[in-house]
Amino acid sequence: MIGQGPARRAAGIILKMVQEGKIAGRSILMAGPPSSGKTAIAMGMAMTLGSDVPFVTLAGSEIYSLEMSKTESLTQAFRRSIGVRIKEETELIEGEVVEIQVDRSVTGATKTGRLTLKTTDMETIYDLGTKMIDQLAKEKVLAGDVVQIDKTSGRISKLGRSYGRAKDYDALGADTKFVQCPDGELQTRKEVVHTVSLHEIDVINSKTQGFLALFAGDTGEIKPELREQINAKVSEWREEGKAEIVPGVLFIDEVHMLDIECFSFLNRALESELAPLVVMASNRGITQIRGTKYMSPHGIPLDLLDRVLIISTKKYELDDIKQIIRVRAQEEDVSFEDSALDALTHIGSHTSLRYALNLIAPSNHVAKRRKATEVSVQDLRLAYKYFTDVGRSLAFIEEQQDLLMFGESGASNSGNSAGQPMGSGYSANVSESAPMEIS
Ligand SMILES: Nc1ncnc2c1ncn2[C@@H]1O[C@H](COP(=O)(O)OP(=O)(O)OP(=O)(O)O)[C@@H](O)[C@H]1O
Ligand SMILES: [Mg+2]
Repeated sequence: MIGQGPARRAAGIILKMVQEGKIAGRSILMAGPPSSGKTAIAMGMAMTLGSDVPFVTLAGSEIYSLEMSKTESLTQAFRRSIGVRIKEETELIEGEVVEIQVDRSVTGATKTGRLTLKTTDMETIYDLGTKMIDQLAKEKVLAGDVVQIDKTSGRISKLGRSYGRAKDYDALGADTKFVQCPDGELQTRKEVVHTVSLHEIDVINSKTQGFLALFAGDTGEIKPELREQINAKVSEWREEGKAEIVPGVLFIDEVHMLDIECFSFLNRALESELAPLVVMASNRGITQIRGTKYMSPHGIPLDLLDRVLIISTKKYELDDIKQIIRVRAQEEDVSFEDSALDALTHIGSHTSLRYALNLIAPSNHVAKRRKATEVSVQDLRLAYKYFTDVGRSLAFIEEQQDLLMFGESGASNSGNSAGQPMGSGYSANVSESAPMEIS
């Protein structure tokens, strides 16, 4: 990530608080103009948190498209962002796979086989039944993998590849993890920790849905009584030391899309005992609160605004824009001549960062057409000509007013019905960006 120092430092402090578990019932608002890195910072936070802490993303408009009530989908989002770390003691077999041998009967109906596992100290051969063979195949276990087999359930999990076999294959996926070959006994007793979210526990325990609903994503509404039972059970586990609550992060992007009912739900939900950290993002100024006729900063009611910590993100400076473009170009495997990079930076600061980023790929295609490896100013100029930014598009619309459908003539485009600053903001830009020349 580049630039946006204060906002990123603020996000860092929040992350510290999340990791120390001091966040229940807090909420953060990231406010700033479009493409100033709000979503990017939130994604960065998610990556830093690690896999154990839930991070749930929800776009404000999403709650209207699901086949359930708004408050139900918010409740589910809340419960998806609270993890329960469950500790279990099990007997495990853990070792590096030396060899897998499978003998098929003539009809193929039954399979038997042998699995040879080793640690640095010993090696043992286990007999395999059909079920285990199928599981090994499903997990794509190969010789050289370090695996863990749960003795009671027979579940196999792949821990990674053994360092000793690292050089055997050069076509490994980027996510291949290398681990040490285990030492000591093959059989061990281990405390295993699973983290599941409260929502997953809800779904698994709701009779009408069953756990398969987790995969379909179509979980329907869950009864409040069931949730109460599960909360009670989880707090019982907590007292017995079997489970631990891991409050995670719920990120609500485009939060101004929520309406007054959702906001009052949020207000109350933040006070409940099991609440995650809620991070909201909005690019709106003073605008109407959805579902009311009242205006409020960011379209959020004042009583909710009062309890949030606000982080503001600023529009990027020229240097930052250049850096971001450079990083993005590298990611897309596109190289720019220095002068073209300067020109694109210039475009980014005069139109929008997103538009500049969107031009990277098309200008690369233009460059490829003339068999060049680097994008030149000329290539960029063509891409800039082919794809207009909002400012030029608006100028075009105004010019063609009479030919386009549903055009309201003249002045009214600043009075957008949702009270968004869109129209006015961009029409001010038109005169600036329309005649812009790439030098
Ligand atoms: N600091 C940064 N470092 C690298 N890339 C960035 C940075 N900030 C923004 N970007 C990139 O710029 C683009 C726009 O940023 P982002 O989506 O975070 O904006 P936003 O503030 O969420 O805007 P909106 O209000 O329109 O949702 C994204 O493609 C993102 O990857
Ligand atoms: Mg965003």
